[in-house]
Amino acid sequence: MALAVLAGCAVVFVVAAALAVALPEDGEPEGGPPALAAVHGLDLGVAVAVEPLLRDGGYRDVVTGNYTSVTAENTMKWDAVQPERGGFDWSGPDAVMDFAEAEGLDVRGHTLLWHNQLPAWLERGSFDPPELRRIMREHIGALVGRYQGRVEAWDVVNEPFVDEGAALRENLWYGVLGEDYIAEALWAAHEVDPEARLYINEFGIEGGGAKADALYALAEDLVDRGVPLHGIGFQGHFVHGQVPEDLASTMRRFTDLGLEVAVTELDVRVPEPVTEAELDAQAGEYRRVVESCLDVPGCVGVTVWGVDDGHSWIPEWFPGYTSATPFDEDHRPKPALEGIVEALSRRPTPPSSG
Ligand code: XIL
Repeated sequence: MALAVLAGCAVVFVVAAALAVALPEDGEPEGGPPALAAVHGLDLGVAVAVEPLLRDGGYRDVVTGNYTSVTAENTMKWDAVQPERGGFDWSGPDAVMDFAEAEGLDVRGHTLLWHNQLPAWLERGSFDPPELRRIMREHIGALVGRYQGRVEAWDVVNEPFVDEGAALRENLWYGVLGEDYIAEALWAAHEVDPEARLYINEFGIEGGGAKADALYALAEDLVDRGVPLHGIGFQGHFVHGQVPEDLASTMRRFTDLGLEVAVTELDVRVPEPVTEAELDAQAGEYRRVVESCLDVPGCVGVTVWGVDDGHSWIPEWFPGYTSATPFDEDHRPKPALEGIVEALSRRPTPPSSG
């Protein structure tokens, strides 16, 4: 008993010493959220749009001052990358990659196969399996190949399940190639960039339930078959007041399969009109999500979906909701940022525990 207590003190001493790098005596972080995230080895990401990235210095400052990685919010999607068959537009993806590399930020690639934001030629075309397979492999080869070795992780398949329920979504790929389009896409990406971490990214799984169970069964099958699946993305598009308590336990199911997990698209939307009390409560929700990730050794990062409330998809897609990100329209930090900082300010978990 006494020995255990002593050993515990030693651990506390060691981690406190490590934390002292980032946390001076008054407890205020030096270097901001990126330095705190680094103490935990956590990736803290944000989804970026090309236009403001190129033109808005305040927008750029939020990204570089608060995050360690970026995801392209739209510009690596199929309609942007290959608007015409065989006609690729690399201007947006290159801009994001160049910015990230100039600023020392990592990149999450988003996304290779999805049912939304497809170009008309693909969505309206009619293809037999060999041809669609060729189209899929060409696209993955071009996109993953162009940035080979420069993208940490790819969302290879996005939202493969129906919005609510356990069935696979009958998207273009499923309809022509069948269920194994998922394994085929993972293999195709792996062939082109063997170092990249390959993800299935999904929403509505964070609190468990039938959809999470179905994704688990799919992931288990892929892992058993040796398919190169490395991670599960929990999108994390939450409604204020409905952020699940048990995010960590859902994540652990997947890490127990040997996979890594990440929160890939975090936002917490608040119904209008928004009160200060709600923003304070939202801070607790951001904090809980980051803490959940820190509680799970295989959770590698948290990415916020949108740099500020003026560049968030929420008001357009969920009318009547707003204020979903940690920065307001004028790039000023909101309580949610403090929630993230508080979560990151705790002692790092020693590698052996958990
Ligand atoms: C959203 C973008 O934020 C919007 O700008 C766009 O109009 C629609 O797509 N799940 C995903 C993301 O995987 O790609 C989506 O991004 C949000 C939901």
